[in-house]
Amino acid sequence: MKALILVGGFGTRLRPLTLSFPKPLVDFANKPMILHQIEALKEVGVTEVVLAINYRPEVMINFLKDFEDKLGITITCSQETEPLGTAGPLALARGKLADGSGEPFFVLNSDVISEYPFAELIEFHKSHGGEATIMVTKVDEPSKYGVVVMEEATGKVERFVEKPKIFVGNKINAGIYLLNPSVLDRIELRPTSIEKEVFPQIAADQQLYAMVLPGFWMDVGQPRDYITGLRLYLDSLRKKSAAKLATGAHVVGNVLVHESAKIGEGCLIGPDVAIGPGCVVEDGVRLSRCTVMRGVRIKKHACISNSIIGWHSTVGQWARIENMTILGEDVHVCDEVYSNGGVVLPHKEIKSSILKPEIVM
Ligand code: GDD
Ligand code: MG
Repeated sequence: MKALILVGGFGTRLRPLTLSFPKPLVDFANKPMILHQIEALKEVGVTEVVLAINYRPEVMINFLKDFEDKLGITITCSQETEPLGTAGPLALARGKLADGSGEPFFVLNSDVISEYPFAELIEFHKSHGGEATIMVTKVDEPSKYGVVVMEEATGKVERFVEKPKIFVGNKINAGIYLLNPSVLDRIELRPTSIEKEVFPQIAADQQLYAMVLPGFWMDVGQPRDYITGLRLYLDSLRKKSAAKLATGAHVVGNVLVHESAKIGEGCLIGPDVAIGPGCVVEDGVRLSRCTVMRGVRIKKHACISNSIIGWHSTVGQWARIENMTILGEDVHVCDEVYSNGGVVLPHKEIKSSILKPEIVM
């Protein structure tokens, strides 16, 4: 089977992290987001993944070379010369996706995290005989997603409304699809949206089905959702492979610590923390609900909560970082500095406190 992952878009809502890496390469739970997806696809027998790219292809391509061999899966790029939206890239990759076998292929948004129940999706798709299946999930705030109205018993989709202004329902498009090759005949090679132009049409032809996604789901393309997504991911990891989580007197709740990270004496870490490769956490540090990416140093007695610390940054002694502070790559926070929701661009030194949420350029 084949899969296409939509890895375009500028990831503006995840800046400043996406100023350093394209969104799919931003680490989530100590692994680039896209690797979570590629590994899960491989598990259900996908042999070729096509990345639909328009943003910084050279970075993705370099990264891929490494992982193709490690994962034993073919990864190719389909590069747009102009952003083609969420459907145009399928038309562009038509030759790769429709190989004459008639087999359905997966399409994924690159920023969604879940248990990727792909085996269940294949089974459901085969059972209904329609052209396309999308996975849906229930959320409290449907207006920022694509909303699906479906027949409960059969899963047949009656309506698909992208980012509705008025309430239509609370089941939303999870950004995980299984499509028959015939769907490609509905898509022209131009900038076009699968949500606004293709799904409503397939639904009108009674060929679109939806399956409620079992387990957790989150679009981690925005900082607040990224932090919530880590909590859900770690909860799920606790149920499925608890041995991967950290243990010890200094650990509270679910914590993921890379084997190459060093943790000092008298720290209190958790809940819902991920500490990446090569990090150094000095004595007496307190961390909760945060992600600390590769190569970060957190000096003595610093306290971090509800924040993301970008690659190779340092946080000074007794510093306090909280309330959705996002430090870009290689940011240096001086000793005793307080950050309340600062969003700091890469390569900055922060010498004075950030008292209210603001962007530091
Ligand atoms: N190749 C390519 N080219 N990819 C693109 C382009 C493009 O021009 N534009 C967006 N993408 C990719 C993004 O990288 C992402 O993986 C996916 O398409 C969806 O784009 P987002 O910008 O993340 O959309 P969204 O989060 O507002 O909404 C989408 O996802 C929701 C679920 O998270 C829609 O599919 C909604 O219907 C859905 O509910
Ligand atoms: Mg998104």
